[in-house]
Amino acid sequence: MNQPVLRVVTIDGPAGAGKSSVARSLAGRLGWRLLDTGAMYRAVTWAALRDHTDLTCDEALGTLAERVSVRLANGSVYLDGEDVTGRIRSVEVTRASRYLADNPRVRARLVRWQRDFADDHEVVAEGRDQGTVVFPHAFCKFFLTASLAARGERRFAEFQARGEAIDYETVLGDLERRDRHDEARAIAPMRPAADAIVVDSTGLSLDEVVNQIERSVRLRLDALMSPQPAVGR
Ligand code: C5P
Repeated sequence: MNQPVLRVVTIDGPAGAGKSSVARSLAGRLGWRLLDTGAMYRAVTWAALRDHTDLTCDEALGTLAERVSVRLANGSVYLDGEDVTGRIRSVEVTRASRYLADNPRVRARLVRWQRDFADDHEVVAEGRDQGTVVFPHAFCKFFLTASLAARGERRFAEFQARGEAIDYETVLGDLERRDRHDEARAIAPMRPAADAIVVDSTGLSLDEVVNQIERSVRLRLDALMSPQPAVGR
């Protein structure tokens, strides 16, 4: 299918750029559902840690992803029916997530879930590969970024709010390493889709970013929905 998919907006970008908050707010304003694909990778990572799966064994990780079930509902993440929303945000899960994100079988499984989710709903999909791999025909794509310092401060504040003892330099180091890894990955590397609008959130409030993105989405929706003038009549 090469037609633009009217029901999917994608927001990709590096860690800490504010994707989750922006995507959640945008989804609320449009009355659409949020597809938080990072939460899916995190949930499967949590399952691997829970089951003491060897993170360096591709075969074991692939089998695990095909055995467990991940469900997003009402802003929560469920692994095999258990609510793991809080647990998947830990430093441990964050660091281990790259093993699952690098695994082709894990990615194939999660891509299927993500497309199934969008079959039933109008979605704002956020992650690293939503505009490039999962929904290449989405009608409106964004790549949300920010300076390393701004992203580090945002992530540090999130860890502090959750009471996790971690210093700012460690957060910054983890963030840089994770971004480098996400960009260099052989499969579905993080990069803006050729037709994505790049938005830099450095120094902008959440509302300012969402206003900017919502304006572009509505303009594009209007343009695609309005009748085309007849040619040659
Ligand atoms: O966005 P979040 O920080 O929750 O993502 C956790 C990890 O999952 C990322 O560092 C990335 O490696 C992986 N991920 C991915 N593809 C996505 C979403 C997340 O590889 N679409």
